[in-house]
Amino acid sequence: MNTFAVVNISELVTLAGPARPRVHKEMRELALIRDGAMIVRDGVITHIGPRLKIDSEIEIIDARNKVVLPGFVDAHTHPIFAGNRADEFEKRAAGATYQEISAAGGGIRSTVRKTRAASEEELFAAASRYMQWFLRGGTTTIEAKSGYGLTLDDELKLLRVIARMGPIRTVPTFLGAHEIPDEYRAQRGEYIDLVIHQMLPAAKKLAEFCDIFCEPHVFPVDDTRRILTAAKQYGLKLRMHVDQLENSGGAQLAAELGATTADHLEHTEAPGIAAMREAGVQPVLLPGSVYALGSKRYPDARAMIEAGLGVVLATDFNPGSSPTPSMQMILSLATTNMKMTPAESITAATINAAYSLNRGAEIGSLEPGKRADFVIHDCADHRELAYFFGVQSAQSVYIGGARVA
Ligand code: NIG
Ligand code: FE
Repeated sequence: MNTFAVVNISELVTLAGPARPRVHKEMRELALIRDGAMIVRDGVITHIGPRLKIDSEIEIIDARNKVVLPGFVDAHTHPIFAGNRADEFEKRAAGATYQEISAAGGGIRSTVRKTRAASEEELFAAASRYMQWFLRGGTTTIEAKSGYGLTLDDELKLLRVIARMGPIRTVPTFLGAHEIPDEYRAQRGEYIDLVIHQMLPAAKKLAEFCDIFCEPHVFPVDDTRRILTAAKQYGLKLRMHVDQLENSGGAQLAAELGATTADHLEHTEAPGIAAMREAGVQPVLLPGSVYALGSKRYPDARAMIEAGLGVVLATDFNPGSSPTPSMQMILSLATTNMKMTPAESITAATINAAYSLNRGAEIGSLEPGKRADFVIHDCADHRELAYFFGVQSAQSVYIGGARVA
């Protein structure tokens, strides 16, 4: 039996509360305990509370002047890819746009070409390096998408790499409908048939969710409806990239299909927000991609919080639009550019994210019975996590009670 206690915690941010995503004012209630203590036994939290006298010889971790937080849950990442796109980054600095680069055959398709050419072992090695970045930043669970293979075998290769990742916890998503690959540009209908009839039946064994890039020039609303209706029939739950570059009614479609999440939402307006609330869709906001594309158009987080949506924040880690694994950077962007408070941002990055992955009963808050996925941050006030930027405050990172970074 492995038991230890973390004591003298300046701020123990538990996020204890109702067993569902937090909405409205609840997003500001962190259930924070000053001078807190936590006991962990065999990877599970057994006690949370204020100052505590520990008599036995159990191991003690002193967290004086520290904040203890649940590990960040990053509910939207694309971490399995070969190479990177520093070349396109440089071109964008010289004035080219993301859409122009992609229309000319770069963008997602350039990463697909490199990823197809890479072996499973090469992809595993590249991804392992990124997993260290996530862990060092205080992230203990990620949702991870395929989507840079776009053939049956290459998509399965990416899903197998996701399944091998550890000790970080992963939730796998199939994203075969990320882009129309080079060889199907003139026969897009055939690619959609391939996704529906060959990829989905195989991917359902390795993935929990199905995602799609729903955008007029990639998979417009009608194609999206067809693909995701099939995905549901195979038992996959849905997450969707919608309204990132323009508003095509993607949020309404997510509501119509009963998606778990609608992600991006930079161009979503009141009718889309109302539809998501009606259908219980959680918005996943990705300010890292707005920032990295040099756009000013952030999603309307305030309107979504006012409407009572269980808002989630994530990195969108990927080689094109959002090359950051840092949830702390996302907290900074959410507070400065989306006017979320530090507390709302922390809720969106932990417990609400956990519910969006159907993991709310196990992770995302620090409560007795939950997994001991927590981080000791080198600051004494939780607001500093969003306030200091370009700094990594995570000092010790634990998953299931084991120190991993
Ligand atoms: O979420 N929008 C589609 N997918 C990613 C970008 C992927 C890439 O550029 O490689 C996103 O922004
Ligand atoms: Fe994405």
